[in-house]
This record gives sequence, structure tokens and C-alpha cells, in this order.
Amino acid sequence: MPKRPVTPKPKRTKTADVNDLDLTCWREYDDIITDSLWQIPERDRSGAHAGDYHGNFVPQIPYQAMRRYTKQGDVVLDTFLGSGTSLIECRRLGRHGLGVELKRELAKQTRQRIEQEANPHDVTTTVLQGDSANVETTAPHIAEALRAMGKSSVQLALLHPPYHSIIKFSDGKHDLSNCDTVEDFAERFGQVVALTDRFLDAGRFLVLVIGDMYEAGEWIPLGFHCMQQVLQRGYTLKSLVVKDMQGNRAKRNLENIWRYRALAGGFYIFKHEYVMFFQKKSRGKS
Ligand SMILES: C[S@@+](CC[C@H](N)C(=O)[O-])C[C@H]1O[C@@H](n2cnc3c(N)ncnc32)[C@H](O)[C@@H]1O
Repeated sequence: MPKRPVTPKPKRTKTADVNDLDLTCWREYDDIITDSLWQIPERDRSGAHAGDYHGNFVPQIPYQAMRRYTKQGDVVLDTFLGSGTSLIECRRLGRHGLGVELKRELAKQTRQRIEQEANPHDVTTTVLQGDSANVETTAPHIAEALRAMGKSSVQLALLHPPYHSIIKFSDGKHDLSNCDTVEDFAERFGQVVALTDRFLDAGRFLVLVIGDMYEAGEWIPLGFHCMQQVLQRGYTLKSLVVKDMQGNRAKRNLENIWRYRALAGGFYIFKHEYVMFFQKKSRGKS
């Protein structure tokens, strides 16, 4: 007898508590990527997403994270806010957003940029200026901003730190792109995880977006150093996504030079970065 195609029976799943997906119509979610290799051909440049901040991520990353791991009305915390990509996505998807950015002038511009985006779900998007690696000074501001939203915790954390010294974001000594060593960078990143952890609900997700770097002829697996910082705080790694970086500005129009250098120097050219998904353990789970 010919075999009939297998169609999984929709059922309540483990992730039903962290998103709004209705698995009775799972075939309709063709906007959601479920593979571990993300090839995103084009940056979303619609609305307030100008894509002009050097070092930003494509809006599709926070979009994917929020679709899978948040519900409408949840709060998303971004501790390296930059140009506010994630908070613009919050407005579109009906999630409240709270972001912390170190650079004062950028924080101001980002506030204005986010205001250019429509707010059809009437969510709150708050931009704080501060050092996310300083729990003592920054935690009270986050707590206060949450209180103003009528909340006390967040349901998704997005962390897109500098990739150590690859892009120097400022001259400030608290800027993670100015750490002297990889060890120092990893430790300071760990402090940001500690800050985030104070506010993230148990069972919810922390998403880390990071690439690796070369230093003195050596591939430094920055992503894995940062991963350790999250794991050692009791999180479970749920997915390690490899995302392509085809459109990387720094290397655009320089393909031949880089190819020559790679052949001569015995190395490979970075074409990927990581999007790592960690789940905070549910209470009672050791
Ligand atoms: C990779 S960018 C994030 C870009 C952002 N995802 C976007 O789409 O625009 C990292 C950001 O972290 C900021 N930063 C560096 N050190 C920081 C710290 N200690 N606390 C808060 N922000 C920091 C930098 O100024 C930079 O804007």
C-alpha cells in the first residue's frame, strides 16, 4: 500500500507559553525561519529602519526572535540598543520595548528615530542612556522605566554587543568596544548578562547576536567566549543559528583583495555571525 504523507497533529507545545503562534495553522507561518542557517538576502529598510548606523543588525533578527519568543504586550529588553532597530520592531509587533545605549547623543537620536515609526498597537518604547555592564547604576533606571510601564520584568532579552574592537563605537572607557583584552571583554559582557538576568522572567529567552574576530593572525571565537558567559549563569542553549553576512559594508567592493589575502595568509574570510538562543531555566529546575 502507498504510504500517506505524514502530517503532524497540531498540539499544545512547550513554546505555547512564550509566543502567540497557533499551531492549528502552522503551515501559514512562512515568515518564520525554523532552519539553523539564516540567509537573509536583503535588509528591511521600510519605515524608520534607515540602516545607516554602522554596526547595526538587520531588523529581521529581532523580528524572528520576537515572533518565536514573545507574545503581544510582552516587554523586550535590548541592552546594546544602538540605533533602535529592535524597538522599531517592537512597535510593529505590539511588544513594549526598553533599550539601553551608552552613547548619550546616539540615545537621543535613537529616541527620535523610533518616534518616526507608527505605533499602531500603542506600546511603550523607552530609550535609556547608561552602561549596561554596571548593574548598580543601570538596574534602578531599568526598574523605574518598567514601573512606568506598569511592569516589573521582561519576557525577551536581546544582546547585540560590539564584536570587541572590530568597530570602535566611542572613546568611552565603559564602551565594550574599548576593552583591552578578549578576557576583559568577555567579563564585561558577563556583567551585562547579569544585569539582564535580573529582569528576565524564568523560562524566557535571551538572544545573543555576535560575530568572531581575528587578532594577531588568530581566529578569536568571540561568540563562544560570550556563550560561556551566558551558560555559566544557568541558561540552556536552545539554538545556535549561523547567519550570513553577505552584505558586510567593510568588505563590499574589496572581494578580490580579501580573497588574495585569505589565500596568502591561510585564513578564511568571515561570512557569518551567530544568533544564539538561550532559555532561562524555569523556577525549580536545576
Ligand atoms: C553592535 S551595536 C548594536 C546595534 C543595534 N543592534 C542596532 O541595530 O543599531 C552595539 C552598541 O552597544 C553600545 N555599547 C557599547 N558598550 C556599551 C555599554 N557598556 N552599555 C550600553 N551600550 C553599550 C555601542 O555604543 C553600540 O551602539
